Amino acid sequence: SAPALKTFFAGKFKIGMAADFGTANEAGAKAVLLKHANSLTAESVMKASPIGVSAGVYNFAPADDLIAFAQANGIEVRGHALVWHQTSPSWLFDGDRTDMTAYKALVRARLETYITDVVTHFKGKVYCWDVVNEATRDDASGTYRDSEWYRLFGSDFIDYAFHAARAADPAVQLFINDYSTEDAGKRGRLMTIVQGMIDRGVPVDGVGHQMHISISYPSAAQVEAALADVEAKGLINHITEMDVSLYNDPGSCFGTPSTCLAALAPGTGAYNTALQAQALKYRELFAVFAAHASVKSVTTWGITDKSTWLNTYPVTRANWPLLFDTSANPKSALWAIVDPAFVP
Ligand code: G3I
Repeated sequence: SAPALKTFFAGKFKIGMAADFGTANEAGAKAVLLKHANSLTAESVMKASPIGVSAGVYNFAPADDLIAFAQANGIEVRGHALVWHQTSPSWLFDGDRTDMTAYKALVRARLETYITDVVTHFKGKVYCWDVVNEATRDDASGTYRDSEWYRLFGSDFIDYAFHAARAADPAVQLFINDYSTEDAGKRGRLMTIVQGMIDRGVPVDGVGHQMHISISYPSAAQVEAALADVEAKGLINHITEMDVSLYNDPGSCFGTPSTCLAALAPGTGAYNTALQAQALKYRELFAVFAAHASVKSVTTWGITDKSTWLNTYPVTRANWPLLFDTSANPKSALWAIVDPAFVP
């Protein structure tokens, strides 16, 4: 049988998987998680929209259940995510904007209170937090994403969030997390953001690379460059949400789902070819991760191919992006990464 990933890579980095309580407890997925993972990320239940019901009112129970499950099984938890435009509940922004100074003070106080309360609640139970998620602009027309947070506060919202998190838990590691960090242009903007934080004395410990990729992109060299840029700033690297889509959709697929490639059919030659390419992609990237001592945690965004966000996004279409198949058996990708040469 396959070696336990957490043991195999023990001298290198933690092995994480994303799940919520339900998926973590599915029979097949649970066995995989308990055997292979020593880190768990909440796929949804630790985000602000599920937790922050209204000002000062929190729904901690689903996250508490997940953490109790993890702790009972000797698995550490990555906190994800305190500030993300997609899951920032609308009540944070409620209020009269006639007096913008007063309005901004109100929203800032809500943000800081939310972070203080949530980080305090989970203090000692998570080893790190994604404090700010996806703040970088995708195109070159600016540095920051044009989110409600950025429109109101400019880059200051990032500083408010990190300072509040650090004040609430001096020991937890604080991350800024984003996707497409392998793209040199986007990464340049992210590094501008990170350098600004360092210059202002904002307490950032590391960069999270989501790593939602496909069988043909990015190259090992591109990922290596991303890790090196973070190391050059003296920060830690985490791979936070890795999956390898079997589709090489055109770039417009995300904006225009009708252009997405048609679903592969299991058992066909095209499907088998894609699975082989996937195994090689996982293999070349795990070789890069293992070669960089700055990489302290590698998480896949899910446990088995039975439950993956890519089955429904950007179109409803089966995808098989993880290391374990829909029956929770190891795939070629799993066998491809347990190469003794990676862990001398
Ligand atoms: O829990 C509710 C349930 O009570 C309700 O009946 C159901 C009906 O819609 O919704 C459930 O919540 C959904 C949740 O997933 C759990 O399934 C939310 O609507 C849905 O928005 C949520 O989607 C997650 C998404 O982030 C937004 O939080 C995806 O599973 C998750 O994979 C995705 O993960 C993100 C990372 O956090 C950041 N990077 C990108 C990545 C993929 O989008």
